[in-house]
Amino acid sequence: MNKALVLNCSPVRDGATARIAEAVSEALADRFEVRRACVDDYRFAFCRGCRSCHDTAKCVMDDDVSRLMAEFERADAIVCVSPSYWADVPGQFKAFIDRCTPWCNTHEPHAALSGGKRGYAIALRTGPGMRECARILETIEHFYGHLEIERRGRLGLCQVECRADAEARLTEITAFCKTIC
Ligand SMILES: Cc1cc2nc3c(=O)[nH]c(=O)nc-3n(C[C@H](O)[C@H](O)[C@H](O)COP(=O)(O)O)c2cc1C
Repeated sequence: MNKALVLNCSPVRDGATARIAEAVSEALADRFEVRRACVDDYRFAFCRGCRSCHDTAKCVMDDDVSRLMAEFERADAIVCVSPSYWADVPGQFKAFIDRCTPWCNTHEPHAALSGGKRGYAIALRTGPGMRECARILETIEHFYGHLEIERRGRLGLCQVECRADAEARLTEITAFCKTIC
């Protein structure tokens, strides 16, 4: 059976993002071996921008980034679910993306993930405009692109503040999950 990783990119373990990640996991469970993770399950430092990884394909720090990347490596399909925090991804998730520079295909050598991974992105926000969701979806897809995870689909959800708002959108979320393969 194919494996999926559903990543809650919010530091809130029981909020709206977590509820959506839970719904996605449930919707995929009959077709995938699903693992769900929250960025807050992992402890890692900020990227120092030293660029050592450009020469070595390794980070000078050793922390939970490798543990979370092992989840990416295990997965065939990856679904990142991110809320808008100040019209962008939460700092914790951005800090993780920065630390993925050893895996980034803009320099040689780099530590590549296995090929054939498919990436899906879901963004949510409290405000009404889809443009802000698009910005978050682009951040996630930019990240996928440099990790050579194929960008397969995206979903933006406006006017979602809390779990109850996420509950009200389950039909939309479940329909999106049908496109995940
Ligand atoms: C620090 C912070 C900043 C936020 N900034 C925005 C924002 O710029 N635009 C917006 O529409 N919603 C914003 N929100 C609302 C969240 O996107 C929304 O409540 C989302 O459902 C939160 O999910 P979570 O509780 O799972 O993290 C912000 C929430 C927080 C905590």
